[in-house]
Amino acid sequence: MIGNWREFWDRPHRIYVNDRHRQVHYARVADNILSELPAQPGVVLDYGCGEALEADKIAARCRLLLLCESGPSLRDGLSARFAGNPAISVIAPEDIARLPDGGLDLVVANSVLQYLSREESAALAAALRPKLTRAGRLILADLIPPDSSIVTDVSSLLGSAWRNGFFFAALAGLAQTFVSDYRRLRQQIGLTTYSEREIRALLEQAGYAVERRSRNFGFNRQRMAVIARPVS
Ligand SMILES: C[S@@+](CC[C@H](N)C(=O)[O-])C[C@H]1O[C@@H](n2cnc3c(N)ncnc32)[C@H](O)[C@@H]1O
Repeated sequence: MIGNWREFWDRPHRIYVNDRHRQVHYARVADNILSELPAQPGVVLDYGCGEALEADKIAARCRLLLLCESGPSLRDGLSARFAGNPAISVIAPEDIARLPDGGLDLVVANSVLQYLSREESAALAAALRPKLTRAGRLILADLIPPDSSIVTDVSSLLGSAWRNGFFFAALAGLAQTFVSDYRRLRQQIGLTTYSEREIRALLEQAGYAVERRSRNFGFNRQRMAVIARPVS
């Protein structure tokens, strides 16, 4: 039985109700990352990148795109898919410690911190800080506020599904989620939530100055994105 979120995301799952949903999701994440790239092509780290379906589109505007994934199966899939692209390198979270200091222009972690404990997220923020350039930025997105409501999650999914042509598949997918490992893990382990004050405190403690991004990445407006810059 799947015992934690790492395992959940590394196995086949039905979070994306069909291929169209998966593509729309990853295209949106890629567009958000593209909108945050530095003016000059730099080194970008996508932490907890998942399947990163549009990584090649992002890599085309980077010096190097590091795809960091904790799931071994996901990493194998990414390595095979992007083997011919010298601008993409697939790494594991343990590899971050070996990256040179001051080398990362942008780090993005979208829809990841909810699956980490607060201690893991604090350790991650601290580990990334020396790896960023002076002008580097760490963007944490799709953070779930404590008062988040399942109604907003459902309406975001259905709204996006309606606009992108998978509304009926989304309805069926919601019914499946109700009896899925996702729901069981969400009840047993839960998701880590952050108020704006809490995420600011976590990042400030790790040596960053923090601003809230005007919009979240992704479709869920209730969730939050923040931009953190290392304080020298
Ligand atoms: C919802 S997916 C997000 C994927 C991608 N960033 C996106 O926006 O579609 C959550 C990601 O968090 C990663 N993850 C879950 N638990 C983790 C952990 N304890 N440490 C590192 N990564 C973890 C999973 O491997 C998965 O890729």
